[in-house]
Amino acid sequence: MDTSLAGRIAVVTGASAGIGRSIAADIARRGGSAVVNARREAPLHKLAETVNAELGREALITLAGDAAQLTTIHRLMDRAKDHFGHQADLVVVNAGRGLAGSIMTSDMAQWEDMVQTNLLGAARLMREAGERMVASAAAETWPGKPRDIVVLGSNVGRHISPFSSMYGATKFAVNSLAEAQRRELGPKGVRVSLIEPGIVKTEFQAVAGYDEKSFGELMEKFAPVLEPDDIARTIAFICAQPAGVHLCDVMIRGTRQDYP
Ligand SMILES: NC(=O)c1ccc[n+]([C@@H]2O[C@H](COP(=O)([O-])OP(=O)(O)OC[C@H]3O[C@@H](n4cnc5c(N)ncnc54)[C@H](OP(=O)(O)O)[C@@H]3O)[C@@H](O)[C@H]2O)c1
Repeated sequence: MDTSLAGRIAVVTGASAGIGRSIAADIARRGGSAVVNARREAPLHKLAETVNAELGREALITLAGDAAQLTTIHRLMDRAKDHFGHQADLVVVNAGRGLAGSIMTSDMAQWEDMVQTNLLGAARLMREAGERMVASAAAETWPGKPRDIVVLGSNVGRHISPFSSMYGATKFAVNSLAEAQRRELGPKGVRVSLIEPGIVKTEFQAVAGYDEKSFGELMEKFAPVLEPDDIARTIAFICAQPAGVHLCDVMIRGTRQDYP
């Protein structure tokens, strides 16, 4: 299948590392353009510089800031429109963080930060992207061009993991929000898709504070675990479908990962 994303204008949050970085580079390599966001400026700039030099065009532009804040979200969406010429038609709601431990054992001091980013920030971006995409779709005759909001859930947002239950709760929340928004916006021509990865080796594990030894043993048991490019390729496959076809919900794990 042709998975070209030529002409697509994207916004990708959490693109300074891991899955978001791969998604942004992949969109650009498939012909799209993107505004890439994260809080750290240096790795964002490095990503844009490398990809733009490789492709010989300005495919990625950067906008650093906290993706949980509405001001950043407005700036991201405005930047995509002003710089690339039309409203973003592919928004990847990816910025997020993990937290080791259960409701009993996780660090309570980090709960609010995680909920801000994983739940409230995701919901704010989904709403802003949804409003703009519905307005753009309404100005076209159906089926117009594809419009996608892609949300990063997790397999612990569908299957309960007592070992990361506070993090899992934020991903259960976006799981339900994505399906609810799909029902609301699908009839208006906007696809809302949920990707639920199993273990992907990124900076996520260090940020979450997983115990290196026991997590390392798990990674070895499940090896090879997923790479960020596996998620990027899956998202490209979803977004490259014709406007009238929606692959709305994808759980993806390394083959040997049996749990969760
Ligand atoms: N890795 C896994 O096993 C796995 C599995 C299932 C789902 N996921 C989900 O996939 C998404 C990406 O995770 P990852 O594995 O790529 O983790 P990662 O390597 O730690 O990358 C997380 C990205 O999010 C950014 N970020 C975090 N908080 C942010 C904020 N408030 N505003 C803007 N950017 C923010 C980080 O950049 P800055 O620090 O520069 O802001 C970084 O670019 C997350 O939603 C995660 O929950 C991951």
